[in-house]
Amino acid sequence: MDHFRVENLSISFGGLKAVNNVSFTVEPNSIFSIIGPNGSGKTTIFNLISGIYHPNNGRIILEGEDMVGKTPDRIARKGIARTFQNIELFAKATVMDNIMLGRHIHMKTGIFTGATLLGRRSRAAQEEIANREIVEGIIDFLDLQSVRDQYVASLSYGKRKLVELGRALALKPKVLLLDEPSAGMNTEEKEDLNIWIKDIREDYQVTILLIEHDMNMIMGISDRIFAINHGEKIIEGLPRDVQTHPEVIKAYLGEEDIFHA
Ligand SMILES: Nc1ncnc2c1ncn2[C@@H]1O[C@H](COP(=O)(O)OP(=O)(O)O)[C@@H](O)[C@H]1O
Ligand SMILES: [Mg+2]
Repeated sequence: MDHFRVENLSISFGGLKAVNNVSFTVEPNSIFSIIGPNGSGKTTIFNLISGIYHPNNGRIILEGEDMVGKTPDRIARKGIARTFQNIELFAKATVMDNIMLGRHIHMKTGIFTGATLLGRRSRAAQEEIANREIVEGIIDFLDLQSVRDQYVASLSYGKRKLVELGRALALKPKVLLLDEPSAGMNTEEKEDLNIWIKDIREDYQVTILLIEHDMNMIMGISDRIFAINHGEKIIEGLPRDVQTHPEVIKAYLGEEDIFHA
């Protein structure tokens, strides 16, 4: 059984075929990247996979189960987590609380029945304590200890992106969708992120789907790459095969020198 695959995925907005008959299969625990010029349909694929959009046609199969028609919440519980191209966090909550929100999707007892209300031996309290331990692990892993009690609003853009990544990880996903995680980061943050993405794959045993504009990063980090233009597949293959494909090079003409930026 395939780990994760999409089959003949299509969606139109008005007359525009934003994603047209896209299929791919992703191996477990691999890094699978989607590249393409602006407006080529990359984020739309993520919106389809995470249930924000419903496809006009096609299937999205996680471990044999079709996700099409399920709500975003249900899909997240099934094990597909994501970060957004534009950060979506609670600005007036702390780093810790934002990441805890990723855990609450797994809690049986609800958000507001914490340890203080119910006593430390209640089931809800035990669950809360276990969740806090997982979140503390993520905070350590992403090197966020120094800002754990700060409001997200006070953080740099790069740090906020890490908090969003932390919240997605807190879901303990099987598949993690990262939409331009390095956008807006400085060089040092990008280097850290590059290492962390590889570490996440190892330490959290998760499959990563990555949309990223930094071509050096993409070529270095990806197991396989899917190149898209105008909503349609150009090629899917190993980084070296994609990088040298004439249509990929052509699709990017006019943009900056993507392979040496
Ligand atoms: N909700 C929507 N309504 C109308 N058009 C949309 C919507 N979402 C995406 N599109 C269009 O679909 C195309 C692909 O967009 P997108 O997937 O965001 O591109 P990318 O992420 O590759 O830059 C664009 O032309 C965009 O304007
Ligand atoms: Mg996009």
